[in-house]
Amino acid sequence: MKILILNGPNLNLLGKREPTIYGESSFEDYLGKLKNKFPTIQFDYFQSNIEGEIIDKLHEIGFTFNGVILNAGAYTHTSVAISDAIKAIETKVIEVHISNVLKREEFRHTSLIGSAVHGSISGFGLDSYRLAIESFL
Ligand code: DQA
Repeated sequence: MKILILNGPNLNLLGKREPTIYGESSFEDYLGKLKNKFPTIQFDYFQSNIEGEIIDKLHEIGFTFNGVILNAGAYTHTSVAISDAIKAIETKVIEVHISNVLKREEFRHTSLIGSAVHGSISGFGLDSYRLAIESFL
């Protein structure tokens, strides 16, 4: 099984960025743990702060991979283009958020990608990614 973990803007700073909200682990450290936990899954990981690069990546793998776990960061709340890209591909996409976005500022309560994805997981810290992987198994 091939799964892409796709992280959007500012998620390259996990571990340093607002640790009270997003935790103290870098994503690279967490990814190592995920790979150990799911040895049969072939993981691809991509992070970009650029909307178009996220869309290009979805197009690139969206007809061959089994699943995408997408944390679109703030683009979740703004990007019609990422929502359209998710609708355009065949691969199933799960939306994840580290924080519980519904407990935060009102502008985070709207997800423009929510209607395009298969399902959403929010608020479990980095464990949101593991829960999304479990949903593919
Ligand atoms: C986030 C929540 C978003 O509102 C925020 O812009 C992020 C991270 C999360 O994982 O909790 O960058 O997607």
